[in-house]
Amino acid sequence: MRIDIITVVPELLKSPFEASIMQRSIAKGLVEVHFHNLRDYTTNAYKQVDDYQYGGGAGMVMMIEPIDKCISELKAARDYDEVIYMTPDGETLNQGIANTISLQKNIIILCGHYKGVDQRVRDQFITREISIGDYVLSGGELGALILCDAVIRLIPGVLGNETSALTDSFQDDLLAPPVYTRPADYKGWKVPEILTSGNTPKIEAWREEQAYKHTKNRRPDLLNE
Ligand code: ADE
Repeated sequence: MRIDIITVVPELLKSPFEASIMQRSIAKGLVEVHFHNLRDYTTNAYKQVDDYQYGGGAGMVMMIEPIDKCISELKAARDYDEVIYMTPDGETLNQGIANTISLQKNIIILCGHYKGVDQRVRDQFITREISIGDYVLSGGELGALILCDAVIRLIPGVLGNETSALTDSFQDDLLAPPVYTRPADYKGWKVPEILTSGNTPKIEAWREEQAYKHTKNRRPDLLNE
């Protein structure tokens, strides 16, 4: 997958791709990430990418011209499956959306700032608008990173153990069951006996039951009951 991220603060984005799973996905050649500084696409002498809003009102708006130049240049080089705009009024990110995007080949992510982008950008270029939750961030960059992390770990071959993404919380609309590791007894706090029994079918049944109970307890809205 190739991800092109358009931003006014590329320095906010780089380091998360230099560690852990996202770094490994790049090292394995499964993911390519390119950052594009919007200021490189402005003709303005002051590298200005925002301006006052028509009709008056507080807050600046990101101008269409540098965004158009950047997106058009990318689109001239290859086809894109999706041009995503990170915005608090987009659809709220969930595992289903992450799954869908993980199947795509080339995507562009535009990070908004200030009051957002000129509406014509959304009308002309954006195919999908995503929010990471009902709160307002200073810009779309942190949201873009969360989207990338959620998507990249689902790309086949990225995680060492292919089954581990399949057993994540939400992957089957249930929260994940509790997990334990050694020692089996720590200060008298014991691991449930079933997990050390070696009885795989019973362990699976226990995990399913735990996942259901945990979901019913914490997120009953996820259960279609
Ligand atoms: N930009 C500002 N707030 C955001 C949010 N909640 N999700 C995505 N992008 C944003």
